[in-house]
Amino acid sequence: MELPRDPALDSTRAFFSEGYDWIGNRCRALGSDVFRARILLRPVVCMMGEEAARRFYDGDSFTRAGAMPQTTLRQLQDKGSVQALDGAAHRHRKQLFLSMMVGDPAEALADAFERRWHADLPRWQGRAEVRMHEAFGRLLCGAACDWLGVPVENDALRRRTREMLAMIGGAGSVGPRAWRGLALRRGAEHWAREVVRHVRDGTLAVRKDTPIARLAGFRDLDGELLDLRTAGVELLNIVRPTVAVSRFLCFATLALHRQRGAAAFVKDREPARLQAFAQEVRRFYPFFPVIGGRVRTPFRFRGHAFGRGDWVLLGLHATNHDPRLWEAPEAFRPERFLDREPGAFALVPQGAGAHADDHRCPGEWITLALLRRLVPLLLATEHRLPPQDLSIPHNRFPTLPRRGLRLGFA
Ligand code: HEM
Repeated sequence: MELPRDPALDSTRAFFSEGYDWIGNRCRALGSDVFRARILLRPVVCMMGEEAARRFYDGDSFTRAGAMPQTTLRQLQDKGSVQALDGAAHRHRKQLFLSMMVGDPAEALADAFERRWHADLPRWQGRAEVRMHEAFGRLLCGAACDWLGVPVENDALRRRTREMLAMIGGAGSVGPRAWRGLALRRGAEHWAREVVRHVRDGTLAVRKDTPIARLAGFRDLDGELLDLRTAGVELLNIVRPTVAVSRFLCFATLALHRQRGAAAFVKDREPARLQAFAQEVRRFYPFFPVIGGRVRTPFRFRGHAFGRGDWVLLGLHATNHDPRLWEAPEAFRPERFLDREPGAFALVPQGAGAHADDHRCPGEWITLALLRRLVPLLLATEHRLPPQDLSIPHNRFPTLPRRGLRLGFA
């Protein structure tokens, strides 16, 4: 069956200008949750919604190899990383991440975040404007390193935070922002490799039960330790996305100030409400617009034959705002998660499906724990939201309020 086709000869320009909304807009216009288009002159099938996510994240059909521009790949994951693996090798490596991050360990990272919050708060107090994306980024970078077992302070912490933020900021762009991210990546890679080297040769003493000790001692399916470069890449795959949570923390802050009823919803700090609020922040605010894959095992969907190597984009933001799944999707309503465990293929800001079998993000527990932890800290701290442009551009990946988010602690 012929899938509907975006009438544009090439949709690259539309994708970058409509941004997060492009897939949803096209699906609405074409009356279909799957359509064909061309991006960067390459044929692509775009899709959205629960059934599409189920198809995309079935554990077997897709590979990430060749599915993202090189600049994005280099800054978000890189060659040799868990995301670049498929099949049994992927499942084995994924266990390393899941064993470190599910349940109590996520709370331990939130504890480290809270300790860093109390340590940094005096630096903010008395200041009329603190740039929160950077301030949260520094807290998160410090907390991730504490949690890993390799604390970083002062100048080194400033440098690591700058590198991580630049890589995340540059991931979805081409040109100067991407080059800056790539240039700073080299410093971060060097640091990460050296950490692993020193843990292995004992010059950096760490406890055996720390995540860094596990990572340094982890053996791939072939029974060999990861080579230093790959181990460094995976270390960055923990620190960098933890720093990326800064964007969600900014959005949560914004929601508490600007979304009607949000602060009242969480004011009693009830755990179920904090969790519902955290879920709604992840659903409502834009982070990654799409995830790309190339077909590894051919299949049929919506009557169309997907052949080996075909390029497919799944709309993550579009699915999180799909009116078939969410009542009033453009309204911020944390209560929608109070009596509802989100479906594994419905709420997809960090991927979908089964964590162990596909590429779904192993950092979801950490992300949620950090969001839940932020709320009471913020509510207990006197601060204000000074006048500023809070509009969130939908054509910048990943996005933030146009000039970042500033809070006053004076
Ligand atoms: C995978 C988003 C936080 C580590 C993913 C994927 C998405 C995502 C969409 C799926 C990629 C795919 O299907 O190919 C996010 C967002 C985060 C976040 C929006 C919050 C800002 C974290 C955290 C960690 C983490 C806190 C670790 C501490 C990873 C890793 C993968 C991944 C290692 C690759 C998993 C695999 O290939 O099996 N993330 N993530 N992420 N994420 Fe996250």
